[in-house]
Amino acid sequence: MATGVALAIETSCDDTAAAVVDATWRVRSSVIESSIDQHREFGGVVPELAGRAHLTTVGPVVRRALDDAGLDPRAPAIDVVAVTAGPGLVGSLLIGLSAAKAYSLAWDVPFVGVNHLEGHLFAPLLERPDLQWPIVTLLVSGGHSMIVVQRGPGEHVVVGETIDDAAGEAYDKVARWLGLAYPGGPEIDRLARQGTGGALKLPVSMTGDDFDLSFSGLKTAVVRATEKHPEVALADVAASFQDAVAEQLLRKLRRVLEAYGEVRGVALAGGVAANSALRRGVEALADEFAIPSLLPSLAMCTDNAAMIGAAGLHRFAHDGPSDLSLSARPNWSLSEVS
Ligand code: KG4
Ligand code: ZN
Repeated sequence: MATGVALAIETSCDDTAAAVVDATWRVRSSVIESSIDQHREFGGVVPELAGRAHLTTVGPVVRRALDDAGLDPRAPAIDVVAVTAGPGLVGSLLIGLSAAKAYSLAWDVPFVGVNHLEGHLFAPLLERPDLQWPIVTLLVSGGHSMIVVQRGPGEHVVVGETIDDAAGEAYDKVARWLGLAYPGGPEIDRLARQGTGGALKLPVSMTGDDFDLSFSGLKTAVVRATEKHPEVALADVAASFQDAVAEQLLRKLRRVLEAYGEVRGVALAGGVAANSALRRGVEALADEFAIPSLLPSLAMCTDNAAMIGAAGLHRFAHDGPSDLSLSARPNWSLSEVS
């Protein structure tokens, strides 16, 4: 069982975030500064710009997180500094890691490197400490899409994952094709609510019995179908694509729930967990299986440091501190952590 208080830092992509979390998963503060406005005109996150933004923002963000938690910034009463070590953009990760090591040395407290994806798995738990294990989590973000069976905090097995694009990546690419702003997920979600699903005929992908996912073919199908049927309204295209993504994700989630009979909750995590169709679908699935649905608040879906703090306290309790020689691990897979 984890004990203590963590200051957590997250800089794996475009958000600079810091939070103070305790071992009962109480979030004492959580601050997020996004550089997304700087990336919008390029249609995606520009690593160089993200790194520069972290460099100027990480200090003030940590300071605010400590202030908000009522901690003395010169000698805060914390037990560990937790920081995302990967996966993510190497330049961005290195800035968070260097800051965390500097605080760790200055305050004479240990530090622990955290896997960003394990952090996402902790996000729904932070808001539902009453949950019962095991749970099945659909983790869908801009960089990753996977289905994970969790038997307890930090005890996870990846049972299926995308064989090509991540779900959020498909949303962003389709949005770009449709001329919508970056990031495309929220834009398509907003438009889809005004449209009619099925107006654009799209193939059903990944109908096999396994638990793996795929979105690349669907993205190409949207391009082909919109070229062939330019008369279909934008909102209807958005709704058709959104339905196709949700249908695949929910079908695979159902298969996992059927295969792992003793499951006691179904959770969503990652940026795409904010999607309205997916949230409705997971709620309906949970009702059908008579288990609770764990849907994180929108702030807990996207990148934040509170989830890194919770995962960091767990890793610190189980594996001890990380060595100061720990470097960024841009391709660190979740399967390497358990
Ligand atoms: O987890 P996240 O903040 O960053 C990564 O670690 O990737 O996820 C960002 C992704 C983007 O691809 C964005 O388009 C998508 O989440 N996203 C959504 C929605 N809100 C954000 N996708 C679909 N529907 C949404 N409402
Ligand atoms: Zn993320």
